[in-house]
Amino acid sequence: MDFITDYETLFQNLEAITAEVPYLTANLANASALLWEAMPGLNWAGFYQMTDGALVLGPFQGKPACIRIPLGRGVCGTAAEEGRTVRVENVHTFPGHIACDSASNSEIVIPLYKAGQLWGVLDIDSPHFGRFTPEDQRNLETFAGKIQAFL
Ligand code: SME
Repeated sequence: MDFITDYETLFQNLEAITAEVPYLTANLANASALLWEAMPGLNWAGFYQMTDGALVLGPFQGKPACIRIPLGRGVCGTAAEEGRTVRVENVHTFPGHIACDSASNSEIVIPLYKAGQLWGVLDIDSPHFGRFTPEDQRNLETFAGKIQAFL
């Protein structure tokens, strides 16, 4: 199945909705809502923030999720610990995957940095196997860069 996302419009909407807004939670909540509206075929999209040495649930769209993920655990903890995007075509074959929503079949996690330090991650889940393409990865890394600009 092909999923079409208008990334240019997504980027413009993110910049417009966060411009001059000094409230981080508001901006992250709107960022997750924009992703949710722009990308077809998702069941979860949101943020985890490094807090007391672990990833703690932040603003998101989707079902209630795990609150705390240690570094190195699951897809989120792996992306955070290794400092790279982790794109998983089938989460059931990923060692240590944490199933917050049993509907999830594929996932992409992008680490976020503030002043060169790990801030947290952007996590996006889909009920479709192989939902996220290398092109989605490139565009979502651009999106993550725009998020980092206001962290
Ligand atoms: N599946 C993630 C956990 C977070 S939820 O998908 C929202 C993981 O393995 O890290």
